[in-house]
Formats: sequence, C-alpha cells, structure tokens
Amino acid sequence: MPTPKALLLGGTTEASRLARAMAEAGIAGVFSYAGRTDRPVAQPLPTRVGGFGGVAGLVEFLRAEAITHVIDATHPFAAQMSRNAVLACAEAGVPLLAHERAPWAPGPGDDWRRVPDLAAAAAALPVQPTRVFLAIGRQNLEVFAARPEHHYLLRLVDPPQDALPLPRAEAVIARGPFDVAGDLALMRGHRIALIVAKNAGGAGARAKLEAARALGLPVILIDRPAVPDRPVTDRLEEVLAWLGHARLGV
Ligand SMILES: NC(=O)c1ccc[n+]([C@@H]2O[C@H](COP(=O)([O-])OP(=O)(O)OC[C@H]3O[C@@H](n4cnc5c(N)ncnc54)[C@H](OP(=O)(O)O)[C@@H]3O)[C@@H](O)[C@H]2O)c1
Repeated sequence: MPTPKALLLGGTTEASRLARAMAEAGIAGVFSYAGRTDRPVAQPLPTRVGGFGGVAGLVEFLRAEAITHVIDATHPFAAQMSRNAVLACAEAGVPLLAHERAPWAPGPGDDWRRVPDLAAAAAALPVQPTRVFLAIGRQNLEVFAARPEHHYLLRLVDPPQDALPLPRAEAVIARGPFDVAGDLALMRGHRIALIVAKNAGGAGARAKLEAARALGLPVILIDRPAVPDRPVTDRLEEVLAWLGHARLGV
C-alpha cells in the first residue's frame, strides 16, 4: 500500500477544520483553493491555488502528485468542481469522499420559500421595491440585475474591484462565521425586509436565518445544485477513518 497522500478541495470552514486535523494526525495532503478571495485563510498543509483546467487537468494533477485520496470539501454550491472531481477520480482510479454539511431544514417560526436556483430567487422577489439582504456572496450578482427596483445589501469577503451590477446596492465587507447578535444588528441597521440565501448548511452561515426568524422576516432559500452521486459525510472523524486514521477524543 502506498503512503496516503490526499488532495483536499477547500474553500469552506469544514475544509479548514479537516486540514488542521490532518496536519495533527500527520496525514500527508495538498490543500487546494480556487483562488476566489484576495486573502485566503492560511492552511497547515502544502497549498496550491487556482483551477486545475477541468477534468483533464485534474486527472493530470492526481497522477503527477501521486494522490491516493480526494476529499471534496468545497461549498455545496461549488457544483462544477464537485462534478469534475467525480469524473476525474473515476478516470484516474482514485477514491473520492465528499465532506459536506447537511442542508438546513426549517423550524417553527421560520418563513422560508424554497426556490430551485438563483434565477428563480430573483423571480420570487416581491413587486414592491424592497430592502433585500442578498446573502449569496460575490458571484452571480448579475442575475439580480433583472430586478433593479430593489435595494440590495451585500456581504462580501473582499471589497468589490469593479462596479456592482446592481444599481441600488451597498456592500459590507466581512468574513464568516457570523453570529446571531451581529446579524440581527446588521439587518436592523439596514432596515432589511427580506433575505435571499443559499442553502449552504453549517453553523456560521445559519445566523442570518435565525436573525430572520427573530425579526419575523421571510427568506427566499435557494436549493443546492445537483451533483452526481458520490459518498458523502458531514463527520470529520469519518473522513479521518477513511484516510486510515482514527482520532481519539473528538
Ligand atoms: N459557490 C459558493 O457559494 C461558494 C461559497 C463559499 C465558498 N466557495 C468556495 O469558492 C470556490 C469556488 O466556488 P465556485 O462556486 O466558483 O466553484 P465552481 O463553480 O464549482 O468551480 C468553478 C471552477 O473553479 C475551480 N475550482 C473550484 N473550486 C476549486 C478548488 N477548491 N481548487 C481548485 N480549483 C477550484 C475549478 O476550475 P478548473 O475546472 O479549472 O479546475 C472549477 O471548475 C470553491 O472552492 C468553494 O469551496 C464557494
């Protein structure tokens, strides 16, 4: 059996937690970022940044680096990367495990309207001009240019380099995880009447939904995009066990 060498596809809190656990357990691995943010979180594993060049590029990388395991810990909405990982691992004969948070489910007091994608979220906005917390990150904002009558509050990791594609928008610059008290203050301060969010799952991004519930505000929640079938776990211990390492005391 060759010594395991994992490729960890990152860009999430879960990926960073896993990288720490792998480093502590002495599991060799390469951490991969797409390169979307100006100041990515430093990782305790050798790190590479940027796309692989599609499925063919990823197959080549897996072979060149003698990767024995791939962990897809990308964001649930990073569907292209997840699809590529499924295809490339099949082609290269490298086992793949997705490490992904469970989606959120509504509880008592939540006023959520689920929509299948971003375009449906834009179409579901009210007719009356509304103050919307558009909590979808920086990508795909142009979809909401079709609804220029609304005022949009954006929360971005980096200050925007170019003009925003929305005529009535303002951005706060902040990096998660967020808490309920902070999100309540943000929504009150900006007189938000409606939230648009992706069903990302996880604790740090959930604060806005709890704040929405506390304020009695509706949420348009975008369902996750489809990815091909692959083994998935939301438990870090299961990933370590799959890599051949059990961790005690977690
Ligand atoms: N989408 C979101 O809402 C969201 C939210 C938070 C964080 N993120 C993180 O931001 C990154 C980009 O997200 P996205 O939605 O733009 O992804 P995407 O649409 O699925 O991926 C587009 C392309 O970006 C490259 N890429 C994506 N993730 C990569 C990674 N971890 N390492 C190397 N290349 C990667 C790949 O390029 P090639 O085809 O050239 O290999 C991929 O085909 C992901 O790593 C994700 O975890 C995304």
